[in-house]
Amino acid sequence: MALLGILTYPDPRLLELSQAVEQFDAELHRLLDDMAETMYQAPGVGLAAPQVNVHRRLIVVDVSEQRDALQEFINPELVATDGSQECEEGCLSVPGIYANVTRAEHIRVRARNRHGEAFEHEASGLEAVCIQHEIDHLDGKVFVDYLSPLKQERIRKKLQKQARQSM
Ligand code: NI
Repeated sequence: MALLGILTYPDPRLLELSQAVEQFDAELHRLLDDMAETMYQAPGVGLAAPQVNVHRRLIVVDVSEQRDALQEFINPELVATDGSQECEEGCLSVPGIYANVTRAEHIRVRARNRHGEAFEHEASGLEAVCIQHEIDHLDGKVFVDYLSPLKQERIRKKLQKQARQSM
């Protein structure tokens, strides 16, 4: 397994629309394993392929305390949502920035597993937030996009400054 580099906002590659996965092969399995390792090492509760510059529709999630409940969703789609909740979010692509975002409280996701088998999964609370956040990445959307233009501009400037200082 290998650690993958994570793109940092406002990198324009984070805005790309990801394409559906069609081949459920060894290459996909390696990518999923590397993404899980990268997420755990960061550490984070979720990671989407476009964050590691692979523009394919897959995400990994683990919101458990013990960090032993890895979930993989390939070609995930929200098929039902209910309620709303406000939660403070962060993102491995937006280091050091946290902000409240309102999302559905309960969701039902349809996806495929690493062998191409379709399944449905229901989630609520933090798990539902995390899955919605990661699916947004597949559509080129970052949680910062939900904030006011003024806040977005501040975050962009702060991260660009940090990037310059770390060069
Ligand atoms: Ni994120």
